[in-house]
Amino acid sequence: MAAPKISNDSKAISTELTRLLGCKYPIIAGPMFLVSYVDLVVKVSEAGGIGGTPSLNWRTAEEFEAAVKEIKSLTSKPFAVNLIVNAANSRQVPDLDICVRHKVPLVITSLGNPKEAIRRMHEVGCKVFCDVTTLKYAQKCEELGADGVIAVSSGAGGHAGPTSPLVLIPHLKRHLKIPVIAAGGIATGEQIAAALLLGAGGVQIGTRFIASNEARVDANYKNAIVNASPDDIVLTKKISGVPVAVINTPYIKKMGLEITKFEEFLHTNERTKKYMKMLRHYIGSESLRNAVVGPTWKEVWSAGQGSGLIDDILPAAEIVERLVKEYHEAVSRLPA
Ligand SMILES: Cc1cc2nc3c(=O)[nH]c(=O)nc-3n(C[C@H](O)[C@H](O)[C@H](O)COP(=O)(O)O)c2cc1C
Repeated sequence: MAAPKISNDSKAISTELTRLLGCKYPIIAGPMFLVSYVDLVVKVSEAGGIGGTPSLNWRTAEEFEAAVKEIKSLTSKPFAVNLIVNAANSRQVPDLDICVRHKVPLVITSLGNPKEAIRRMHEVGCKVFCDVTTLKYAQKCEELGADGVIAVSSGAGGHAGPTSPLVLIPHLKRHLKIPVIAAGGIATGEQIAAALLLGAGGVQIGTRFIASNEARVDANYKNAIVNASPDDIVLTKKISGVPVAVINTPYIKKMGLEITKFEEFLHTNERTKKYMKMLRHYIGSESLRNAVVGPTWKEVWSAGQGSGLIDDILPAAEIVERLVKEYHEAVSRLPA
């Protein structure tokens, strides 16, 4: 692995990710459902990272296209869009068409088969990374031509993977040729340095950016992240049928974390699983939508274990600046 270098610009950090996308810092602000909108994307990209947003944050493809146009009118820097590429997402084709039409610099796929997204984005000279949690799926993405994988580890906000980042990053790195981007639990510059040392070509950070001025969520949600410890984060299957990391609020405690045996059967049975996915997605997204935008007793707040390292709510550009400063300080502290 080539050591990350500091470029001519004294603070820039040159890695596989920055060289591939042409950005200053190897930091992606992870796309976050109902959290990251145009403002957050633009502020992070303008600050030298890569701002990300999921296409499904917009209720229609037309609204999503207007958002992409707005981002492109506000920044010429690279940004990312997350597309869910499984059959349950009825917006898969129109949203990909929009990414192709507007040459979205980086598409991040999750779930399903990324083949079509890779083929079509490559035709217009754009890059595709795939969210992965296992080597088997990562190898499939590499075979299909992905430009990189996002290694989603345990401790992550959203749908966390099962494996420790200390193991997942070097494990994937050992078997893949494409860049491995570390995601899960990263909220400080020291952790970015650690991830790069483990072989990551960059990092994707979610939870830290929820506690930003630009995240479009209720102040109670941001404050809950500032106040949470790592052990306040639990995994619940109640939202989408698969484990999602959430803050253990009284509402989550009341709901319980497990689904019933019957629901489990419906989720795994060949004939019912597609419909269950759609139903869960709908129920899950509606309860999330209500929880993130306003005060409600139904506090469903997704966040990762990195919450324990977050003490303040800052403008997104300042978060990027601080991460970079901490990174350089950490590197200079390494024993010779
Ligand atoms: C509230 C929330 C919503 C998320 N929504 C999405 C999403 O829609 N698409 C996606 O690819 N990743 C999503 N993620 C994952 C993030 O992009 C990122 O990979 C993850 O948050 C990294 O872990 P961290 O939160 O510990 O930094 C979400 C994460 C959170 C916390």
